[in-house]
Parts: sequence; structure tokens; C-alpha cells
Amino acid sequence: SPSTVAVRQLGGRIGAEISGVRLGGDLDREAVAAIREALLRHKVVFFRGQDHVDDDLHADFAELFGDLTTAHPTVNTGSARVLRVTANRGMAANSWHTDVSFVDRVPAISVLRAVALPAYGGNTVWANTAAAYEALPEPLRAIVDRLWAVHTNSYDYAQRDEENEEPDANYTRADFTAQLFETRHPVVHVHPETGERALLLGNFVKQFEGFNHSESSTLFNLLQTRISRLENTIRWTWAPGDVAMWDNRATQHYAVADFDHEFREMRRITVQGEVPVSIDG
Ligand code: SIN
Repeated sequence: SPSTVAVRQLGGRIGAEISGVRLGGDLDREAVAAIREALLRHKVVFFRGQDHVDDDLHADFAELFGDLTTAHPTVNTGSARVLRVTANRGMAANSWHTDVSFVDRVPAISVLRAVALPAYGGNTVWANTAAAYEALPEPLRAIVDRLWAVHTNSYDYAQRDEENEEPDANYTRADFTAQLFETRHPVVHVHPETGERALLLGNFVKQFEGFNHSESSTLFNLLQTRISRLENTIRWTWAPGDVAMWDNRATQHYAVADFDHEFREMRRITVQGEVPVSIDG
């Protein structure tokens, strides 16, 4: 259907709202190109008023941007493509991460829609990992440019407190770690579409190669603090019908777990990415 994509920048380093488009699989080439361009530039884009979108339209829209991944590498979701994220204190909430960074081919793009929202709280915050790299002081860049990190899905969830796992979560920790992955990725990777350098970290990182555990966590905290500094982020207060789409190759995000026992359900679909490439190729 003909659409006039309008992009309004929301933050200095990240985030834009896109209007003039009704999401689905039938967008014309110009609209898809305009959305892709806005996504690459602003890293996360938001669409409001998309109440008509169900799981199928969600997938049809995401597929305009590339092949879809299975819903999650370890979770049996009952649906091939859609991950139900019941963010609560134990699971997706309360940690900065790049989605599924523990596999070889880290997803390129994620599309998230709000299905059930709490009466208060439950915002999501995104950070620009390319801008964070760009802002590193030169000596720190020299360290990270050739650094590699081991990402695993066991480490992250193993650190969580069992008590914080909600009994009504869609999936349990066991689902997320049914199969263990351990994958090395360059800490600085070259974005395959923009050529920008970006930091690839987040809470699936277990250790940096060549550093012991305690050194790794010091360096990790130093870098992670720079990624998540407020100037580098955009925070979204969800309304029904909202859809967020982010470039997983240039962002991290954090679901804020401040909604007590209110119910919150999101659905996420991810587009297949490539193996991250270091600055040495
Ligand atoms: C996610 O981590 O992909 C979900 C974020 C959210 O629930 O807001």
C-alpha cells in the first residue's frame, strides 16, 4: 500500500519515530528502503498505533528486512518465529544486552511489539554501541580494537537469583539454557551495512580472551558504563499498538523491571544476521 514514511528524530545519538506507515508485509519498496535507512541511522525506530498487527503481520513485516531466525535458539516457543517475552524480574528485564549474542550469527534486527502492558513502568531503554565506540578515548580503543570476548547463554542466567524468577513466566531459565552456546566475537565489529565500528558486549559476555576473570569484569564494566551512559540512550514508554525495531548490530537494550507483579507481555521476531567481522576482516 502507498505510504509516506516520515521520520522524526527523538534523541541526539539514538532513536526516531516513524509515522505514515501501516505495518505489514505489503509495504512498497520505497517505504522499506526509507525504514531501513532510518533504522541504520537512528538504530532504533518506533511506530505507534499499529494495533492491527498480529503475529503473522509482525512476521510478514520483519521478513521485508531479511530472513527470519527461529524464535530463539534454545526455547521451544510453539511458534517458529515469535518469541513471547514476559519481561519480569528474573528474565529479559534488568540487564543490558544485545539479543542472542552467544550464537555465531548474531541477529541483525529485532522487531518487538507490545501485547500486554503493565499499569506503570516496564519501559525499554536502548543504547547506541557505535556512538559508544566512537566516543572511546584513543588508548582504550587501542585495547578493544583487537580484543575478543566469549559470549555464552549459561553465564548470564546462571548469575540470576532463582527467587527472582516469576512463576508465571512464559519460559524458565531451563528453557533459555536447554542448549549451551559459547561463541567468541570481536569486541569491536564492523557493521556490514554502514561500515561503522561498534562494540559488541552485553550480559552474555563471560570473559575477554587474554584476561582473567577479575580483569575481564573490570574492563567489561568500564566499557559497559560507557555504552549505557544516558546521553547514549533513548527510553521508550510503551503504549498499546507500539512497535519498536532495532539494529541489533549497533545497540544494546534493557527492559526496566519496575512494574512489580503487573503482567507485561511483548512479542519479538528477529531477522538473521551475519557472523560479526573484526576490524582486521
Ligand atoms: C528483549 O530483550 O528483546 C525484550 C525487551 C523488552 O521486553 O522490552
